[in-house]
Amino acid sequence: MSNKNIVILAGDGIGPEITDAAVVALKAVEKKFGHKFDLDYRYMGGSAIDKFGVPLPDETVTACKTADGVLLGAVGGPKWDAQPAENRPEKGLLGIRSALGLYANLRPAVIYPELTSASPLKKEILDRGVDVMVVRELIGGIYFGPRAASDDGDSAYDTEIYSTEEVRRIAKVAFDIAMTRRKKVTSVDKANVLLSSRLWRRIVNEIATEYPEVEVNHIYVDNAAMQLVKDPSQFDVLLCPNMFGDILSDEASQITGSIGLLPSSSLGTCKAGLFEPIHGSAPDIAGLDVANPIATVLAAAMMLDNMGLNDEARAVEAAVGKVIADGWRTPDMGEGKRVGCKKMGELIADAI
Ligand code: IPM
Ligand code: MG
Repeated sequence: MSNKNIVILAGDGIGPEITDAAVVALKAVEKKFGHKFDLDYRYMGGSAIDKFGVPLPDETVTACKTADGVLLGAVGGPKWDAQPAENRPEKGLLGIRSALGLYANLRPAVIYPELTSASPLKKEILDRGVDVMVVRELIGGIYFGPRAASDDGDSAYDTEIYSTEEVRRIAKVAFDIAMTRRKKVTSVDKANVLLSSRLWRRIVNEIATEYPEVEVNHIYVDNAAMQLVKDPSQFDVLLCPNMFGDILSDEASQITGSIGLLPSSSLGTCKAGLFEPIHGSAPDIAGLDVANPIATVLAAAMMLDNMGLNDEARAVEAAVGKVIADGWRTPDMGEGKRVGCKKMGELIADAI
């Protein structure tokens, strides 16, 4: 029996519904395995702006720093569009990633055989297999470099900066993961144009010498975008700087049929780690009970793994697999036995 302290950042839009469904699954895990999960609900994003005036209150950061795991729904929505850039809900997300030192963002894209018809790709391409792990650098690059807009509104800039140490630590994560998979790292850059990409490539090659068993190759980001839809089976681990990883992980997710299925974990120097679906807050369907909670449930499974509860994580994944195999589908998943968000969470909990 273990006692774990879990911070829940439900967030905005569909965030509360999908985290509620994941909590129902976590309660089933508690019961089956005899654990005690203390859930600590905190504010981040638009909901925090409404309550505290800022997207990331200090008390949220403090709670996350001492937690065993942090489960996040999603943040943002049109309600906060008028906020100044520095006070947008997204700043809360970027801020918590940075405050917790979460430099490694892992975004697996796998295809469930039952859902191939929901993928926009042809069956013969999918039959070659889709099992890609996007390893995205999360607290550096153009997202965090110096930026400014001129007073007259006529120009603005953002800066892509990477230090060798920042590249080294994320490259190591990618190679370590590749060792547990098909032993292939494809590093994404734009080294034909950007100096920061040339540095990225040099350091990735340096780290590669420490992993002689892993095959490494480099690909320009434009080509990566094309190859991903042409033949995703060629990729195992896709190692990306922050912004390229943001873009390619959305593309990879769509190959699997629905962005509603994919979880992600963000790991780094803080023991907790942050676990979230890769999709956004979908304000257009918020409150309608049609959102797909599976990505958040699978993010909770990744969190269990990070807390050392591996059997528990496998039980959650198996339950999701069973519910999909039994034909239950939220609207984004295509044809099948139609269920809403809440019911999907309950079905997964029952299967656990
Ligand atoms: C993601 C999102 C975020 C990002 C946004 C909401 C700031 O798109 O997690 O992929 O760009 O990192
Ligand atoms: Mg994104």
